[in-house]
Amino acid sequence: MNNDTILRISHISKKYPGVLALNDVSFDVKKGQIHALMGENGAGKSTLIKIISGAIQPSGGSVIINDTEYKSLTPALSSQLGIGVIYQEFNNVPSLSVVENVFLGKKIGGRFCPDQKLMNQKAQEIFDKLGVNIPLDIQTRRLSPAQQQIVEIARALSSDVKVLIMDEPSASLAMAEVERMLRIVKSLRDEGVSIIYISHRIDEVLDIADTLTILRDGKHIETRPMKGVDRKEIIRLMVGRELNETYPARTTPIGGPILELEGVSGNGVHDISFELKKGEILGLAGLIGAGRTELGKVIFGEAKKDSGTIRYKGKPVDFHSAGQALSSGIGYISENRKEEGVFLNFPVDWNITISALKKNSRYGFVNRKNLEVLADKMVSRFRVKTPSQLQLVRNLSGGNQQKIALAKVLALDTDIIIFDEPTRGIDVGVKQEIYHLMNELIENGVSIIMISSEMEELLGMSDRIVVLHEGRKMGEVMKKDFDQQKILTLASGIALEDKE
Ligand SMILES: Nc1ncnc2c1ncn2[C@@H]1O[C@H](COP(=O)(O)OP(=O)(O)OP(=O)(O)O)[C@@H](O)[C@H]1O
Ligand SMILES: [Mg+2]
Repeated sequence: MNNDTILRISHISKKYPGVLALNDVSFDVKKGQIHALMGENGAGKSTLIKIISGAIQPSGGSVIINDTEYKSLTPALSSQLGIGVIYQEFNNVPSLSVVENVFLGKKIGGRFCPDQKLMNQKAQEIFDKLGVNIPLDIQTRRLSPAQQQIVEIARALSSDVKVLIMDEPSASLAMAEVERMLRIVKSLRDEGVSIIYISHRIDEVLDIADTLTILRDGKHIETRPMKGVDRKEIIRLMVGRELNETYPARTTPIGGPILELEGVSGNGVHDISFELKKGEILGLAGLIGAGRTELGKVIFGEAKKDSGTIRYKGKPVDFHSAGQALSSGIGYISENRKEEGVFLNFPVDWNITISALKKNSRYGFVNRKNLEVLADKMVSRFRVKTPSQLQLVRNLSGGNQQKIALAKVLALDTDIIIFDEPTRGIDVGVKQEIYHLMNELIENGVSIIMISSEMEELLGMSDRIVVLHEGRKMGEVMKKDFDQQKILTLASGIALEDKE
């Protein structure tokens, strides 16, 4: 093995019933490099890193670390060999303190009694090194997603890590937080740590990666230096064809207000007023903690409104549950799709059709044919990667689970849909499909509120953007005045001077 190679993937395959998740994959990871691992949803990225971390066993092939070949690894062995992993879903135990999570599963100090002082000291050292300040003794559940993720990084660094694997670390972070995380990743690399970095955000990868590996349908397509690669090329390698990345235009005229908020407070938001017009996509911008999701939940009846008025189709409404909002024609696609969006232990078809059951039943009889057609349509439209409609959603890749959560709400007849981070974790090809679908919904008379942390998407898809900061509305920007800097300024809580 080459001197500067730290990890070699050699002819790795992984079979699941009906799926060849990895098909004879081989490539090297070099010392002190940021190695991006990219591919569409279901390409096999998470499966590969689970094999490296010992969470699952390959069906064939081996991993070579420090010139030793391993046909299979265990989590303990992999960690001993210097491999640290931050998974796609957070793995902190929310009820434990920050310092307990940093040393989760490790013994520090005496044999029977952990040395609290030493643990605190060591944890503080790691946070200092990362240049962040997080209180050590508070419950981890009280941290923001960005802080929780730093705790995960700190855990990986609490042992002597040589290869740090990060599976979509930026997916639940907002812009400023992503920047800080990328700085941390770069400084780790400069200290000689190798980082395997999985992300669907191409700009981010162009910014930080030294080497790029592309998987497609479980196969290794290419490993090459980042130098000389551009966005177009990455997409072509991932998708296997050219892709038009422009935001599709809409021609549907915008009508009168369908939803009006007047001085709405509750669930952490204060005195919010705006209108959603028929046929409009209204973007909600803000940093994490700005109260966008909180506001969405108040509208949807999932959280209590303390004061103010919400008018829907001209009449004041006060939904007390999501069910009430849904049956009145308001749908909500949660950002937290794994916990709130899908039934993991149920099959694909069941998940997609469950919300459309009522619409497709008469006198207690279900029209099965309709439901089958519906599920088929959604699966092919979103290119859901699954061996059959009977597959449990738990067994789908992260991005494909998200597609199911989207499909579930889109199967409903609604007048308004609130999309919370509609394309988070979704690959570039399907992203385009979602934008087209939003426009189709608009053509069919639906109005959309889109909460998003992706500036490009907000600017590209919205007709108007309302900006929140710490639960308050900072301003509203019309399409003709869209400007990234203006929106970022408002989002950070600074009012614009030339306010009309
Ligand atoms: N436990 C399992 N049982 C059956 N199939 C599985 C299982 N785990 C993964 N798969 C399948 O293996 C393939 C690869 O999944 P994987 O999670 O590695 O994709 P990914 O590249 O990480 O995608 P994403 O970008 O959506 O996270 C998918 O088709 C998935 O459905
Ligand atoms: Mg994955």
